[in-house]
Amino acid sequence: MQTITLDGYADVREAYRQHDLKQALYDAGGVVMADSLLVLHGGEHRRRRRVENRLFRRGTFRYWEKAFLRDVVHDTLAPFRAAGRADLLEIGYRTIMNLTAMVAGIDQPTGSPEETDELYRFAKKFSEGATMVHTTRDPEVVRAEVQAALDDFDRVFLQPSITRRRALLERFAAGEVTEDDLPRDVLTALLRNWDELGIDEDVLRRECAFYLQAGSHSTADAFSHAADDWFTWAQRDPEAADRARRDPALLQRCVYETLRLHPASPVAQRRALAPITLRGGTEIPEGSFVVLDIAGANRDARVFERPEEYDPMREVPADVPRWGHAFGGGMHACIGTELAGGVPSPEQPTPEQAHEQVLGTVTLMLDALLTAGARPDPADPPRRDPHSARDHFAAYPVVFDAP
Ligand code: HEM
Repeated sequence: MQTITLDGYADVREAYRQHDLKQALYDAGGVVMADSLLVLHGGEHRRRRRVENRLFRRGTFRYWEKAFLRDVVHDTLAPFRAAGRADLLEIGYRTIMNLTAMVAGIDQPTGSPEETDELYRFAKKFSEGATMVHTTRDPEVVRAEVQAALDDFDRVFLQPSITRRRALLERFAAGEVTEDDLPRDVLTALLRNWDELGIDEDVLRRECAFYLQAGSHSTADAFSHAADDWFTWAQRDPEAADRARRDPALLQRCVYETLRLHPASPVAQRRALAPITLRGGTEIPEGSFVVLDIAGANRDARVFERPEEYDPMREVPADVPRWGHAFGGGMHACIGTELAGGVPSPEQPTPEQAHEQVLGTVTLMLDALLTAGARPDPADPPRRDPHSARDHFAAYPVVFDAP
């Protein structure tokens, strides 16, 4: 079978928008990814996405950011700061875990740190299952571990969450509670649209597991890279880095520049359902396997000057997001873009624009981390993930300067 690799910015953008290119990255990760939103195609994808999109309406995350996100970020950081040290991956996962569980519709009845830790272990295992295509471990062993984690997750978290929602939906149908009493989460949306979507309990379980890992892993990864890039920048150009540290709109640009250089998903893969010719002339025969090299396209010198350089203040063409293709595009474009990345802040916001600003979780986390005086632990350098060919940190120890 022919493989075609696209690594130009414009080619990748066009490929994302082709309806005849079908998701193909997660075939190996079926144990957790089969029938999830990210692998559905055509009408099935449209129906599921329409149902889930309603939860991600513009404005929802602006409200979240104003109402409680900052507190979540600060509360999660506080014990690490008090202890004087932390691991960035752990901070990242702990911060985003409860938020992602809320989006997915996974209840945490006790709200204890142990409960978050348990979800964190599940999310990490699901993530390993989803990215099986990149694993350097024995795939059969990984698959068995992921299946066991799914069974435990189902028993401990999912079934109680389903029972509570079904009871609420019955009361809603009986007119005893109103729409406002129903949780706004993926699980409730799926239960309400069960027949229209034609799903079963296994699909439901995988969709919730997929959300848990999709939201948490990429955010934790972006956070560790964003901090690493900023620390390196601060050594090279302390004045510019410090200016960005003090201005959330500039810090957001730092995060976008990190996403461009270290996209959590460095490649996307599709299969051609029909022959396609891209505007630039590339021919994609039917049945071929198409690799969208996101990391490569994000360093396309025709779009990003000095592409290898980390330069958060760079100029980019008006129709190009600063993060390049890090949030994907077309039908599978990341549903959590606004939650994780916020909305790009204008250069010099008016007071009104500043009030409306949505910075996104990664920027809020980076802001809190740097304000707390974090720096890499000189005695314990960061380590890459030895079990993945992807550009991930497995550990990133930091210490906090005394407040
Ligand atoms: C920095 C953080 C994040 C990054 C870099 C990221 C990146 C991506 C990318 C590249 C895709 C498209 C994959 C493809 O086309 O094959 C995607 C899809 C998706 N992401 Fe994210 N994501 C992030 C955060 C989140 C969060 C916080 C959530 C939810 C809480 C989320 C939920 C999803 C879902 C549900 C899809 C599938 C959409 C569909 O297939 O229609 N992501 N993400």
